[in-house]
Amino acid sequence: HAALHPRRDWTGRRLLISAGPTQEAIDPVRFISNRSSGKMGYALAEAAQARGAEVVLVSGPTALTPPAGVEFCPVTTAEEMRKAVTGRFSWSDTVIMAAAVADFRPTQPAAQKLKKRQHPVTSLGLSPTEDILKELGERRTTQVLVGFAAETEDLLAHAREKLQAKGVDLLVANDVTAAGSGFGSDTNRVFILYRDGSAEELPLLPKRDVAHLILDRILTLQTGRRS
Ligand code: CTP
Ligand code: CA
Repeated sequence: HAALHPRRDWTGRRLLISAGPTQEAIDPVRFISNRSSGKMGYALAEAAQARGAEVVLVSGPTALTPPAGVEFCPVTTAEEMRKAVTGRFSWSDTVIMAAAVADFRPTQPAAQKLKKRQHPVTSLGLSPTEDILKELGERRTTQVLVGFAAETEDLLAHAREKLQAKGVDLLVANDVTAAGSGFGSDTNRVFILYRDGSAEELPLLPKRDVAHLILDRILTLQTGRRS
């Protein structure tokens, strides 16, 4: 049985994986975030660990328990995630950015709770965050880089643009609004896109199974073997 006798085909590999949302403070009690649950990233971390990899999981705030045997690095903001990921980059041989990193943060978070009568907030000044994956794409040496694309429309067109823009080897495209798919779901239906322009559609599957298939494809990319 696979659960009792897992493949150990990730032995000797060092996987850096990001998961979950980030939170960007508005004031000490409020933040901007997104609907990422972290389930896909945690499933990948758990699957790779079970297959023999050394795994570092950099995670934004989630309701999940970190998988046993994985080095866990909790973060809150996009900037903290950037520092944690870039600091581990040279250690890694594979990076999977499954996190839903905030694209913007409040420019001037308030030091004290904003009171609705004294400081009614009717608009927020926002500044862009760094694109971590793009930065890794520019800095990489020998690492395999994997990105995710969360989309609500024109899934493949948007995902193809991201594959190019970020310089990744493989991109997992996710319609986050489809039934049984995306944020919070225990199942997912994804496309895997490659640099040669090909795309593979996976059926609706538990995130655990999607995780193992993504790990299979990453190995195939490097060995040229189909597993
Ligand atoms: N990503 C990142 N740093 C950011 C934003 C995104 O590393 N500041 C990574 C995500 O982890 C994911 C990939 O980039 O692997 C694509 O994220 P996504 O939000 O789908 O795309 P964006 O490039 O941010 O574009 P948009 O949100 O406008 O669709
Ligand atoms: Ca984004």
